[in-house]
Amino acid sequence: MSEQREKFYITTPIYYVNARPHIGHTYTTVVCDAIARRQRMLGHDTFFLTGTDEHGQKIERSAAAAGKTPQQLTDEVSGEFRALWDRMGISYDKFIRTTSPEHKRGVQAMFTLLKERGYIYKGSYTGQYCVSDELYADDNTPGAPCPVCGRITETVEEENYFFKLSAMAEPLLKLYEENPGLIYPETRRNEVITFVKGGLRDLSISRTTFAWGIPVPDDPAHVIYVWLDALCNYITAIGYGSSDAVDQQRYAHYWPANVHMIGKEIVRFHCVYWPAFLLAAGLPMPKQIVAHGWLLFEESKMSKSRGNIVRSETILEVLGADALRYFLFREVVFGQDGSFSFDALVQRFNSDLANGLGNLASRTLSMIQRYFEGEVPYPSATISYTPAEAAIASLAEETIASYNRLFEGFHFSRALEAIWSLLSAVDKYSVENHTWSIAEKDDDHSRSRLATVLYTSAEALRIIAVLAHPIIPDSTAKIFTQLGLGDISKTDLNTLRWGQLNVGTRLGKIEAVFPRADRSAIERMQQMEEERKSSAEAGAPQPTQSAEVGAQPGAPQPTQPAEAGTQAAMGDAAPEAATPAAPAYITIDDFAKVELRVGTVLTAEKVVKADKLLRLTVDIGSEVRQIVAGIAKTYAPETLVGRKVVIVANLAPRKLRGIESQGMIVAASYGEEGTPALASFLEEVPNGARLK
Ligand code: MSP
Repeated sequence: MSEQREKFYITTPIYYVNARPHIGHTYTTVVCDAIARRQRMLGHDTFFLTGTDEHGQKIERSAAAAGKTPQQLTDEVSGEFRALWDRMGISYDKFIRTTSPEHKRGVQAMFTLLKERGYIYKGSYTGQYCVSDELYADDNTPGAPCPVCGRITETVEEENYFFKLSAMAEPLLKLYEENPGLIYPETRRNEVITFVKGGLRDLSISRTTFAWGIPVPDDPAHVIYVWLDALCNYITAIGYGSSDAVDQQRYAHYWPANVHMIGKEIVRFHCVYWPAFLLAAGLPMPKQIVAHGWLLFEESKMSKSRGNIVRSETILEVLGADALRYFLFREVVFGQDGSFSFDALVQRFNSDLANGLGNLASRTLSMIQRYFEGEVPYPSATISYTPAEAAIASLAEETIASYNRLFEGFHFSRALEAIWSLLSAVDKYSVENHTWSIAEKDDDHSRSRLATVLYTSAEALRIIAVLAHPIIPDSTAKIFTQLGLGDISKTDLNTLRWGQLNVGTRLGKIEAVFPRADRSAIERMQQMEEERKSSAEAGAPQPTQSAEVGAQPGAPQPTQPAEAGTQAAMGDAAPEAATPAAPAYITIDDFAKVELRVGTVLTAEKVVKADKLLRLTVDIGSEVRQIVAGIAKTYAPETLVGRKVVIVANLAPRKLRGIESQGMIVAASYGEEGTPALASFLEEVPNGARLK
């Protein structure tokens, strides 16, 4: 480790292993990868950390639902994340797993330190908990929704260790005040400040009702709260808690992190809890916590529980990693939500990569090959130098400056726009200078002009490749080799200037970098995703599908939105309903026969002498329906009033215990007992809206 070089430490969130990787996870990871690559090109001593978050109730339940031990599940899914990052060439320096002994040791050291410093005490907790987000809800009313995901929380009643978060409100506000750049973007900073100003309650930081976690030192009946465990990865990964001198030195060298990159839904954990733990422990603060927006697919957040995920592998197979990376950086305005679609992906690929960069590279390089025997020609300043060359040179210099500024400020899309403006200017320059027609002429002047135009184009191509390298590393590395320039990642960004391309450089072997994609690419990707979904549905339980619906026998039952494809009829005791041997597929017309509508529960009461049944009245916009549902064992009537539900509106009415049921409530059914979980939405959906 060199002492002279500036260090740069960047982290991704560590991903939960109850869901397989999708392009939402890829987004954060490639953003960090590009930043890390650029930092290395600036000569900084860079450390890029990623990994997996493997403990907690959610993982324990997911494993049980998949018929696996938590260790089996975590090994499997953690391996998938790592294999994907390796396949994509993600340049991480370390992949941390929270089940590793080094992490466990560090978390226990942190717990002990916080306790010794008087920030931990034992007490008892009764309140609401969201297993999906592993979050204690502020609202302690039974059945209250989770403030992050909107799922109904479950009641937890335990003796726990508590962290004195209430004592940290003032120090945190001071920290935000003194470090205005700590939380980025500004909107998130403001949200955090408002949240902390609202007052903080002490935080329960241990659990006793499940075992899959790191034991509390000297009190192993408790496992450490998964977020305290997880957040500590940022220090344990670089050596915190180790007695080994090399580890200690590494920790002292890299900590504090320069950037914690996260998605906007985990701001509270990173900007309130994590700084509070660090303040209490007397450890340095990260320099910056950067929250980006969500990747949306079909207009909602891409996530396992909505069943609307797209796998990175599909895109890698058809278009390659750079196509996906370019799209994510160019199309998503960093910090805001951005939509993904296969059409937009292919359109971007063709217009900017195949026709844009790919075309400039192949045209320039093949002409140098053909007319100058594969050697970068001498640009004649005396015979044929014109203002057009000077204009390209100065635009290139401006692009270097503006690109660096925009990239540093996380304005990736605009940074790429700046590069592509240079690219268009070079294309225009090439057309206006009649490159093809002068190439066909043999006189000295034409040859000299051709040499100048090709030198100028090749030099612009070199600069474009270097600037875009952190974002699209594979293709720019190929362009660089074709330019005869060796390893692009070794280029020093600090000294990048116009005119550094040496005359006489011998080109490498020229090959197309981005073969154009046609419509069939979209169809192929869509088909691959369809096949994945149907094989996941047909096959053995997969964490992706079943993670959030598993439950511990005897544990309080969470109420969560139905997974895609897991609809259960709840008019009466659904699990017993006979399931005819179904054909593998239904047509869209079959599905259209079922009229699913959103409604609000107006009243709910128990049906006398029927311990499973509730009588509900539900407003479905055009009318109020009476529905009898077999959900009384899971839902207390008062928790349902005002709740949005989904009903099958065109089911023939029938009588249950003498009461007419005019429809059926839709719910998932899980576990051995067929526990119901009502389908619901994260967005505000009006009564009567149809599901289709
Ligand atoms: N394990 C916690 C993080 C602990 S960090 C100490 C967790 N894991 S997660 O698997 O749910 O990953 C969440 C992160 O994955 C998000 O914060 C974001 O970085 C990324 N994304 C997952 N889905 C995403 C989108 N649909 N869009 C953008 N990013 C997404 O939370």
